[in-house]
Amino acid sequence: MPNRKVYISGDIVTEADAKISIFDSAVMLGDTVTESTRTFSHKPFKLKQHIDRLFQSLKVTRIDIGMTADALMDITLDLLEKNLGCYGANEDCWIVHNISRGLSIAGADPTVQCSPATIMIFTQPMDLRTWARFYSKGCHAVTAMSRIIPSQSLDARIKNRSRLSYTMAEMEVKLVDPEAQGVILDVNGNIAENKGANLFCVKDGSLLTPTTENCLAGISRKTTMELAEKLGIEVKECRIQPYDFYTADELFFTSTPYCIMPATKFNGLPVGDGQVGKITKQLLASWSELVGVDIVSPAEQQLKG
Ligand SMILES: Cc1ncc(COP(=O)(O)O)c(C=O)c1O
Repeated sequence: MPNRKVYISGDIVTEADAKISIFDSAVMLGDTVTESTRTFSHKPFKLKQHIDRLFQSLKVTRIDIGMTADALMDITLDLLEKNLGCYGANEDCWIVHNISRGLSIAGADPTVQCSPATIMIFTQPMDLRTWARFYSKGCHAVTAMSRIIPSQSLDARIKNRSRLSYTMAEMEVKLVDPEAQGVILDVNGNIAENKGANLFCVKDGSLLTPTTENCLAGISRKTTMELAEKLGIEVKECRIQPYDFYTADELFFTSTPYCIMPATKFNGLPVGDGQVGKITKQLLASWSELVGVDIVSPAEQQLKG
C-alpha cells in the first residue's frame, strides 16, 4: 500500500520511508509492547481499552513512551483519518501499535532507557481470508506440544512482541493439520490460549474460559463475557483441562480480527455434534448487533474474492 502513511517516533511518513535502526531493542531483544485494534465501518472498536492496556504493558515493562495516553489516542485517530482513503467503504482495517524501548546497547542496564522509545503505528487491511471459512464450518483446534511461557517468567497480561514461542507452537499444530488453530496449554496442562486469541468452551449452557493467570486479558474475551452476561448466559473463569474441551458442547476462539471463531473439532474428535454451536452463533450475532455491522458476511465475501 504505497500511499499508506505510518507514524514513526513523531513523524508521519509513507511506509517506504519508515525505518528503524538494526540496533533497536525491537530487533535485538523483541523488547516491544504492542496492541492491535480493528475498525468496524471505519470506526475503531474499543480503542480506549486497547490504549489503556498498552499503557499497563508499558508500565510493567518500564518502557517510557514519553507521552500520555490521550496524546497517543489523538495521534492514532489522526493517522487513521489520514489513511481512510486507502480503504474501500466496506473495507475495515487494523490499527497496530508497536512500542520498543528504543536503542539497545550491549551490556547496558535495561532500567536505564538509552534513547527515546521507538513508537511505530500503522494501519493495514483487515484480511480475514485465513479464518473466514470457519464461521460456518468451524475450525480444528489442536493442542501444541510447546507450553505457554509461565506468567512467573513473563506475565501473560503483558501484550508483547516476543512471539517465538507462539510461532513455534502454531507450527507444531499446522504440521498436524495445515488448517488447525493452536490450543496452547500451560506447564500444568491447563488450557491457556492461542498465539493470538483467547479460548472458550460451552458446557451445560455455561461459558467457561481460563483465568488470566495463563492468558492475555483479551479485549474480545471481555466483550464476549459482557455479551454473554447480557444474554443471561453464565460465565465462569476457571482452570480448564483438555478433558473439558473434549467433552464440551461448543468451543470457540476470540480475537480482535475475527471476534469469535467457532471450533467444531478438537484433536480430531467432534466438539458436541460437530456443528457450530447455538450459543456461539448467538454471541456472534450479538456482537454484530453491538457494532452495527454483520461481522461474518464481509469476511466470507473476501473468500469469494
Ligand atoms: C497471545 C494473545 N492472546 C489473546 C489475544 C486476543 O486479544 P484481543 O481480544 O485483545 O485481540 C491476542 C491478541 O493478539 C494475543 O496476542
